Amino acid sequence: MSASVTYRAAPGGRLGGRVRVPGDKSISHRSIMLGALAEGVTDVSGFLEGEDCLATLEAFRIMGVKIERPEPERVVIHGAGMRGLRTPHKPLDLGNSGTSMRLLCGLLAGQPFSATLIGDASLSRRPMKRVIEPLTLMGVRVEASPDGTAPLIIHGNTELHGIDYVMPVASAQVKSALLLAGLYAQGRTCVSEPAPTRDHTERMLQGFGYPIARHGNTVCVQGGGKLRAMRIRVPADISSAAFFMVGASIAEGSDIVLEHVGVNPTRIGVINILRLMGANIELLNERTAGGEPVADVRVRSARLHGVFIPAEQVPLAIDEFPALFIAAACAEGETVLQGAHELRVKESDRIQVMADGLDALGIAARPTPDGMVIQGGAFSGGEVDSHGDHRIAMAFAMAALRAGAPVTIRDCANVNTSFPGFAGRARSAGLGIQQV
Ligand code: S3P
Repeated sequence: MSASVTYRAAPGGRLGGRVRVPGDKSISHRSIMLGALAEGVTDVSGFLEGEDCLATLEAFRIMGVKIERPEPERVVIHGAGMRGLRTPHKPLDLGNSGTSMRLLCGLLAGQPFSATLIGDASLSRRPMKRVIEPLTLMGVRVEASPDGTAPLIIHGNTELHGIDYVMPVASAQVKSALLLAGLYAQGRTCVSEPAPTRDHTERMLQGFGYPIARHGNTVCVQGGGKLRAMRIRVPADISSAAFFMVGASIAEGSDIVLEHVGVNPTRIGVINILRLMGANIELLNERTAGGEPVADVRVRSARLHGVFIPAEQVPLAIDEFPALFIAAACAEGETVLQGAHELRVKESDRIQVMADGLDALGIAARPTPDGMVIQGGAFSGGEVDSHGDHRIAMAFAMAALRAGAPVTIRDCANVNTSFPGFAGRARSAGLGIQQV
């Protein structure tokens, strides 16, 4: 991948009109994985054609699954059944995608073959022990680098056994990896989470006809069942819509409608936190599509004020902090985030990289080990480095709406991992952004 994409965003402007952002990344990944293991043909519409989900798709093609792409954003998966995957004849390259790698660790744990998982420089730094350790308890052997990072070799074992696992971190990727391994295990696999995390795996397993038991913060699957193919309509990704929610909130005179956004309660931390800050956000036409709650989200500009971000909102907004930090920089007073150490091990160290970028644009931001303290102020304009992190690039693009001079953002090629066409869509909504 080239690191040469730079964004230049002109200062000022406002956002308006109706925008549909691309499909949800988490749901798109899971649609390929469960569709591949199902019996029958799974038809997916609204699929996110970002590099991360395409890496998942390619991995299953390498494992012998027939997957067609008849038209944009549509994928047709000819399920191979629970025992139908073939030995991959080369390493599965998962690019920048932590979700692909961690969920595949679980799914491959019960296969009758070994597979090698590799990724780009960022993914090769990300912690994998969080999935390797519990999967090892289930009976699989995983080879990793000494510090527990990729490349990984998963030596599948067809005699996995179920475990009861209490996760030390609130991670939907770890939970999902264990549930996927649990489909192949003897007995029951139960995962308890310290705080609610996104539940797309549980919802989709049920949609595929696989029973799930939930009690409080614990979810269990019984191994040995089957998945029945289904039709999946992927909603627009709230994590991508979040940039427009923040942009419209901070840019005076904005009034935008984000269409068909997934508003699963385990994902709406960004809306809850922005509302606490005084944002004007309405959910219109609330409905259910394919087992997931969906709404059109209208956002009008508002005077934001700093807040202490409630701890329980952190896992519900974990991918949205780059955008929320931009909102905090435009708010009156101080915003404090704590309990978000996970941000340090995302596609970049999002605490440090955001603090550096805010500082470069004249905002007082103090990074802490597990969060940030931001004093609202005025963006000066200037240059920031996204460190190849898609969400940091898009967050700083929106900062230009309130900047006194142009904002240049370096190393933006990875925006294509989650939001292909971002610059074009942002431009048509009113942001003066150019890709150079
Ligand atoms: C995801 C879970 C989250 C999130 C990631 C997608 C998923 O990661 O940050 O972008 O699809 O399950 P963690 O499980 O590490 O919190």
